Amino acid sequence: MPGALTVPAARRLPGRLTAPEPGWSTRADVVVIGSGIAGLTAALRLREHVAKVLVVTKDVLSAGSTQWAQGGIAAALGEGDTPEQHEVDTLVAGAGACDLEAVRVLVGEGPEAVHELIALGTRFDVDAAGLLSLTREGGHHRDRIAHAGGDATGAEIQRALIAAVEAATDIEVVPHALAVDLLLGADHGVAGVTLHVMGEGERDGIGAVHCRAVVLASGGLGQVFSQTTNPAVSTGDGMALALRAGATLRDLEFVQFHPTVMYLGPDSRGQQPLISEAVRGEGAFLVDWEGRRLMTGVHELGDLAPRDVVAKAITRRMHETGRPHMWLDARHLGADFWERRFPTILATARRHGVDPVAEPIPVAPACHYASGGVRTDLWGRTDVPGLYATGEVACSGVHGANRLASNSLLEGLVFSRRIASVLPAELRPWTEPVPDTRPPGLVSGSARQDLQEVMTERVGVLRSAAGLAEAAAVLDKLADTPAGAVDLDAWETTNLLTIAVALTDAAALREETRGSHWREDHPERDDARWAGHCDTRLDLRSADGAATLTFDPAPATDGGLRR
Ligand code: SIN
Repeated sequence: MPGALTVPAARRLPGRLTAPEPGWSTRADVVVIGSGIAGLTAALRLREHVAKVLVVTKDVLSAGSTQWAQGGIAAALGEGDTPEQHEVDTLVAGAGACDLEAVRVLVGEGPEAVHELIALGTRFDVDAAGLLSLTREGGHHRDRIAHAGGDATGAEIQRALIAAVEAATDIEVVPHALAVDLLLGADHGVAGVTLHVMGEGERDGIGAVHCRAVVLASGGLGQVFSQTTNPAVSTGDGMALALRAGATLRDLEFVQFHPTVMYLGPDSRGQQPLISEAVRGEGAFLVDWEGRRLMTGVHELGDLAPRDVVAKAITRRMHETGRPHMWLDARHLGADFWERRFPTILATARRHGVDPVAEPIPVAPACHYASGGVRTDLWGRTDVPGLYATGEVACSGVHGANRLASNSLLEGLVFSRRIASVLPAELRPWTEPVPDTRPPGLVSGSARQDLQEVMTERVGVLRSAAGLAEAAAVLDKLADTPAGAVDLDAWETTNLLTIAVALTDAAALREETRGSHWREDHPERDDARWAGHCDTRLDLRSADGAATLTFDPAPATDGGLRR
């Protein structure tokens, strides 16, 4: 195995966002950025131990990805299932790039954490005997996915968490607020965070929250691509903010494309309707335009193979046939079953003119989940003192090169509990922020669509050195699109560009195919060279925003386990 390899990233990234001076300020011991399962779990637990917790969310509390989760939450809860079996499935899906200790934490603490969600008031679906009704999704060898409202698991969890936060009168919530940048002390640790509040009254515009710790729980980066299952708020803000503050972004190239996203036509952009893997878990199957089963002979788990395997099989057939999508056939499940088990998907598909009871659903892969993110240890700590990260924004090591289905809600839950168990004892003293003298940067919101298109075309499911170089050149050009206005669109687009550059560089560096990272020009997994992680960092002392990309070798963690 080669030693660590450092490649200076060719492009410059802004060390801070252009923004007006703060016009208001406030204080809180801990600021939680994000309001999905990760953010609200952290806030609810932290409030028991610290004087003031403030939750910041870019829209309303329910606008993030948790609300949209369909399939459910995975944990070894069923008869005969064990954390060890869940561990094996997680490691196999992760294609050797998981952190073994992190996976053991996830699967070991998962069942208790889910029971706590139930105690909080989450109503999961149960069978006639009152036992949790568990289903299966891609990559799982057991029925271990708890779900709610049939296919509305995330919405039910979000409802229960919001109810608990609203009942806890000591958690302050600041809605419609973008976290712009961290304020750092002389030791490069957290001293606060600047927010832009899109509101009225004294908290309108840019302000500073002085604090002793920040928990980043701001979700993913789906909007880097033209089509995604992620909501509009998922613009990679937390990852970009953490990078600018000196944290490490790990394994950004491992972007998961969900195989069955409803195809709405060539011009459809932004959030697209997800057709949960649980539909395949209940017996649906993929077919091509001739009606031939797509997954036959591809993998022992057939239509329930790990997600990257299914996404690749669909993409391959799309390329071979020149078709823009394939089909998911679930007609045989019948109207009653559809209405009871998948009411949300049924209604959504019908709204778009497809009746899954009577016809196959057009599906194609679309960006779904960032398996990489802000690198953390087993307690959610990042490289920046006082900055913690949890949920999709984080790279705790549990997902490796490809997240196992329904492990994401679980990750947010488990690691937020862990953060809350150590953070109070680690609270930093109040620290004065030091001025950030690096030149600020901002690109125009008008760059967003071109950015998304080149990322989808060249850095999507299928990648090559030539395509990645082409994408990098377009991103370079877009970086020179000066912003006319300092506004939310420009801040988000600058964050998208930061993440797109880091992701493209990491994808170019990793010359192999592993998990959700598929290199056409390096079609095999190559443990001898590429077992390990791609880390991106921004040098805080460098005035010109030079980033470095480092390869950190680590033994593959799925040794002897078969995909
Ligand atoms: C799905 O329901 O297929 C998505 C679940 C997940 O992303 O874990």
